[in-house]
Order: sequence, then C-alpha cells, then structure tokens
Amino acid sequence: MMITLITLSLLGSLASTKAQTVTYTSNAANSNLRIPPTGSSGLTESSIFVDVTFPICDVDVVVHIEHTRTRDLDVDITLDAPMGITDPLVRLQHDDCGGTDDLIVTFDDSATISLDGVGNNRALCNNDGISVRPEGSLATFNGYPSSGFWTLKIRDDQDRKRGELLSWSVKLTRCGDGAGTGDPHFKSWAGEWFDFHGECDLVFINSPKFGHGTGLAVHIRTKARYEYSYIESAAVQIGDSVLEVGEYVSYLLDGVSNAELDKMDDKYPVTHTEVNSKKHVFTIELGEGKQIVIQSFKDLVSVKTVGASAEEYNGSQGLLGEFGTGKLLSRNGTVMTDADAFGNEWQVRDTEPKLFQANRFPQHPVQCTMPSTERLGRMLGESTISMEAAEEACEHWGDMKDQCVYDVMAAGDLELADAGAF
Ligand SMILES: *[C@@H]1O[C@H](CO)[C@@H](O)[C@H](O)[C@H]1NC(C)=O
Ligand SMILES: *[C@@H]1O[C@H](CO)[C@@H](O)[C@H](O)[C@H]1NC(C)=O
Repeated sequence: MMITLITLSLLGSLASTKAQTVTYTSNAANSNLRIPPTGSSGLTESSIFVDVTFPICDVDVVVHIEHTRTRDLDVDITLDAPMGITDPLVRLQHDDCGGTDDLIVTFDDSATISLDGVGNNRALCNNDGISVRPEGSLATFNGYPSSGFWTLKIRDDQDRKRGELLSWSVKLTRCGDGAGTGDPHFKSWAGEWFDFHGECDLVFINSPKFGHGTGLAVHIRTKARYEYSYIESAAVQIGDSVLEVGEYVSYLLDGVSNAELDKMDDKYPVTHTEVNSKKHVFTIELGEGKQIVIQSFKDLVSVKTVGASAEEYNGSQGLLGEFGTGKLLSRNGTVMTDADAFGNEWQVRDTEPKLFQANRFPQHPVQCTMPSTERLGRMLGESTISMEAAEEACEHWGDMKDQCVYDVMAAGDLELADAGAF
C-alpha cells in the first residue's frame, strides 16, 4: 500500500514523455531508394501517407541515408496537404557532415546540437541515437492538420557518389483536448498530466485570436480543503460575455445569477443539463462540434475542451500550455519543468482582466496558497477509504484510474468515483 501511495504522490511532477506521439515509417515501397548523383536524375522523393487527422503539436523526422559523402546532400521535408501553409518545404540539412559515411539522425527542433557547419563527424552525423536541430523549423507544421503525404526530398548536388535512402520516419505529436479536473489534475494540449495544488485564480486558457480577435479565455478558481484541493469554479469569457460556473449548479451569465442560457457573445450557444441531482453539465458550442464543457459534481468543478484545433486556440497560452507546440511555457516563453512553479506562473495577475464576479483571497500580487506535502501524505495514509475500495470504485475510469483513486482517498468520498469528470 505504501508503494502505491508513493507512486500517486509523483503525479506532482511534469511528465517529460510525449503522451500523444505517433511514428509513421516508410514501408517497402518507399524505402531503399537510390540517390543518384546530379546529372543522372536529380531528386529522390519518398512519401509517407498519414490518414489520421489531428492538429500537430510537434514534428520530428528520423532519416537513415547511406552515402559516402554526406555533404553532397540536401535533405528537405514537406507536407502536401490542402491547409494553406505558404511555404511548407522545411530544410533539414544541406552540405553538412563532410565526407562522413551515411546520415543517420533524428531532426528535432528542440535538440541543442545543429549540423550546420559540421564536417566529417560520425558521432554527430551517423548516430542512431542522436537528435539534431534541422536548418529550417519543423514548427512550420505546428497547429496544422496531420493528414496527407509527408514527402522527404533528397538532392545530391555533386556529381561524385551515389547513395541510398534506406528508410525514414515522421513522428507526429498530437495537440489534443486539454482538461482540468479532480484534485486538480491538468492535461496539457500535448497530453501530459500534472497536478497543481495551489489555491488561487488561474489562467487555464488564453486565446486572444479566437473568433478573428473576439478572444476566448478560461480562468479557474482552486480551493484547498483539509489536505487536498479542487477546482471550485470556472469562468469562460468569449468577447464581452462571461459564463461562471460554481459549486452545486450555481452559475452566472454576464453577472446575472441563474440567467436564462442562450448564446454567448450573441453567437455561441450555451446549454445546461442536469444529469442527476449532484451532477450538472454546461456546454458552450464553438461551432463544428467543438465545445468547452464545464461539469459540476456537488462542489467540484471540471473543465475540458472537445475537438480543440488551431482554429480556436492557435497560440493560446496558460495552464494547458501553448497550443501548436504543447509546451508548458512561462509568460515570457521559456519552457517550465516544475509543476508548482508552472502553476504559480499562471496565477491570474493583477494586470489581467478578472473573470470571476467576486474576488476571493488570494489575489495577485499575493501568491497562491500552497499545501504542505507532508500533511498531504499523512492524510492519504489515514484515509477513511481503503485503497481496495477506491480502486474498485474507480475501475471504469480507464487511464484516469490512478487520479480517481487519489481523489477518492484524499477526499474520503467514494461518491467522487461516480463524478465521471471525463
Ligand atoms: C497560427 O498563427 C501564426 C501567427 O499568426 C500563423 O503564422 C500560423 O499560420 C497559424 N497556424 C495555424 C495552424 O493556423
Ligand atoms: C521568464 O519566466 C520565468 C518563469 O517565471 C523566470 O524564471 C525567468 O527569469 C524569466 N526570464 C526572463 C528573461 O524574464
């Protein structure tokens, strides 16, 4: 039992794995292609067809090229899809690596090493495990839909040697829906889960470009209770309209309590469904089936997006990270790796619009109130609910089961397992 508790308490750190990355690799028909020297026939092209459509958060490209003079090569990648990138050809490398045999690397925007200007160097150019920065930016594709033909184009611009494209892969990371739920657990656009237990008002999503400048923002208000914390209310602003949802079905539309729900900003339909006496669902329709869904279960509130794409969230920042890269960025654009620091970074500042009608302590510049982790651990060990009972009640939560078990035990409330935040 102790071991499980320790595992659960690790949820507080930021996962570094890319939860939503799929690798597509060239198959027999588009592998082992000859790369002729200039003068013969020029360009070698190999296409991988991706038939699944999702907004791209990150692209990496792995190449296995056999060639006795790598510096004779220019390697580019493009995505042939109807999506309006003006110049979708991204240069991976050209004329680098001198006379190194073979080019075997992963091109990754976030790599620290660049091949630019590198001469004969097997460790950098022919190294199955190495990631190098491409010359162009693979982020060119970020936010755009993934589907279509991804084509690698290789040109040998010297008339000396020939080579072969053995195989290659494109690794696509999906920007998915984001969420904030339970204790509270957050799921970033790139599918990373993390916890933040501070009590304060937080910028969940800030998407100023939404609706051609109408703007969309979501703030959440967290609250500590005993030794755990939860989302007490959420406020969604679209244009001049604000919907605030709090505990036990209390809600305000444009400051009016229990107002008749119709449309936000005269355009986006909002509905309220009572699932049962404890559970209520508010849905804001953003068009084409895309939604923001706020649920309340007794006094707990959760928020999630449905069908998120660059159309609504291009460049959006906040607790869900930056849409289009999925990175957990600070306000000044640095990548953050500590969940507590990241949460505090997105506390609603005193220079930002306040979406909640009533102020509640703490308000910036007073910092978020942080719980004592020591007390949190002791509390879980002393939970009135047994681990076995919690696990049984949470079985139907699938990959969210651990978070559910944690919440049920921390709150000492088995009913929480029925909240079905997702
Ligand atoms: C997102 O916005 C940037 C900057 O305005 C633009 O260059 C890019 O094409 C947009 N991406 C998508 C997927 O719409
Ligand atoms: C950027 O923000 C981070 C997080 O708040 C901070 O630690 C860092 O000092 C800031 N960097 C600059 C250059 O302002």
